[in-house]
Amino acid sequence: MSATATAAPTARVGIVGGGQLARMSHAAATGLGIEVHVLDAPGAPAAAAGARLVAGDAGRLDDLVRLASRVDVVTFDHEHADPAALRALVDRGVAVRPGPAIKRLAQDKLHARSVLGTELGMPVPAFARVDDAGDVAAFAAAHGWPVVLKAITGGYDGRGVRIAATPHEAEGALAALGRPALAEAHVAIDTELSVLVARAAGTGETRAYPVVETLQRDGICHETVLPARVEPDVAACARALGLALAEAIELEGLLAVELFVSGGGLLVNELALRPHNSGHVTLDGCVTSQFEQHLRAVLGWPLGATRAIAPAAAMVNVLGPADGSDPGTRVAQALAVQGAHVHLYGKAPRPGRKLGHVTALGHDADAALHAARAAAHTLEGRR
Ligand SMILES: Nc1ncnc2c1ncn2[C@@H]1O[C@H](COP(=O)(O)OP(=O)(O)O)[C@@H](O)[C@H]1O
Ligand SMILES: [Mg+2]
Repeated sequence: MSATATAAPTARVGIVGGGQLARMSHAAATGLGIEVHVLDAPGAPAAAAGARLVAGDAGRLDDLVRLASRVDVVTFDHEHADPAALRALVDRGVAVRPGPAIKRLAQDKLHARSVLGTELGMPVPAFARVDDAGDVAAFAAAHGWPVVLKAITGGYDGRGVRIAATPHEAEGALAALGRPALAEAHVAIDTELSVLVARAAGTGETRAYPVVETLQRDGICHETVLPARVEPDVAACARALGLALAEAIELEGLLAVELFVSGGGLLVNELALRPHNSGHVTLDGCVTSQFEQHLRAVLGWPLGATRAIAPAAAMVNVLGPADGSDPGTRVAQALAVQGAHVHLYGKAPRPGRKLGHVTALGHDADAALHAARAAAHTLEGRR
C-alpha cells in the first residue's frame, strides 16, 4: 500500500522560539496550509502542538541557518535572538522579518528610546543611560525621585525593571540589573494601552487593531480589555501613533506599542515586534487574530480585517496555582462559563507561571471581564 499523499504546504514559516506565541501562530497557520518550523528545545509548547522542531538555540548562527534552510521566511516568538547572528542570516540572503535593524528596537531599550524619542520625535518618558548611582542621582536632580531603572537588554515580564527612591536603592538596583542601565522618569500612569499594527512585507499594506487596555499585576500585563476604556480622541491618537511608527520603521510583520496615558497625553513605553500578550484578546475578539495577521504580514499576503466582533472583549491570564496543580485538569469546569474561550500553552505547571489565558466577549467591558475572570479563576482552582 502506498503512503497517503498530503498536499504541499502553501508556505513555510520559521519561528525563532517555540513558546506559546509560536504555538498559537502554528494553530492559525494550520488552516491556511502554512507549515511552521520552530527553533527551540525539544518539548517547546509549539512543537508539543505539532509544529516542526529544529532543536537548537536562538543565540547560535548554525542553528538559525538550519531553521532558515527549511523555510521561506524567518520570524520571531521572542526578542532574544542574537543580533549579529540575525545580520549574518540576512547577509546569506535569508528573508528575516522583521529585519535585525528593526528588531533591535524591541531588544535594546536604550536604543529604542533614542530612536523613538530623539530621532522620530515621539513622546517618551524622560530617559538617560546611567552607569552608576551618581548618574542616577544626577538624573533624579532633574526629573525627581523615584527613578525607574531598566535593564537595557534581556528584560521581560517586569524582570528587568526596578524602582529606586534613593541613591542607595539605585546602587542595589544597578547591581541586580547590570550596567549600564536605562533610567526613566517615574510616570504617573492613568491607564496603560497597547496598539497592535501589522504591515505586510512587499506591499506595505498596514492595519491597526482597536486599542487594547492592559491591566498589570506585579509589572506584568495580566488582563486586557478591547476596546480600551479611554476617550475616543486618546484611542485615535494611539492608533495614529502606531501606524506612523510602523511606516517610519518600515515594519515587516507585527508591532505592539505599549503606551502610558498620563495627564491625558500619551507616552510610548516599549515595543514588541511579534505577537504580544496584549493581542491575545484578538483571538476571539477580532475578525482576524494577531497570530494569523502576523503570518500574513511576514509572508506579504493580504492582511485581514482588524475590527472587533463584539462591543467588548477581555482576556485574563491563567497562572500556575500556588499548590502546583495543573489548570488543565479543570478545563471542563471552566467551560461551564458561557462564552469563555480557553487557550492553554501546554507548559508544565509551576506556581505563578503563565500557563494559558481565557478570552470572553460581552456587551460591555465589565461583562467580558467578569466572564473571562470566572473561567480563569476556575482554571486556577480559586473558585
Ligand atoms: N517610566 C515608568 N514610570 C512608571 N511605571 C513604569 C515605567 N516604566 C515601566 N513602568 C511599569 O512597569 C511595567 C513594565 O515595564 P516595561 O518597560 O514594559 O518592562 P517589561 O519589558 O518587563 O514589560 C510597565 O507596564 C509599567 O506598569
Ligand atoms: Mg512591557
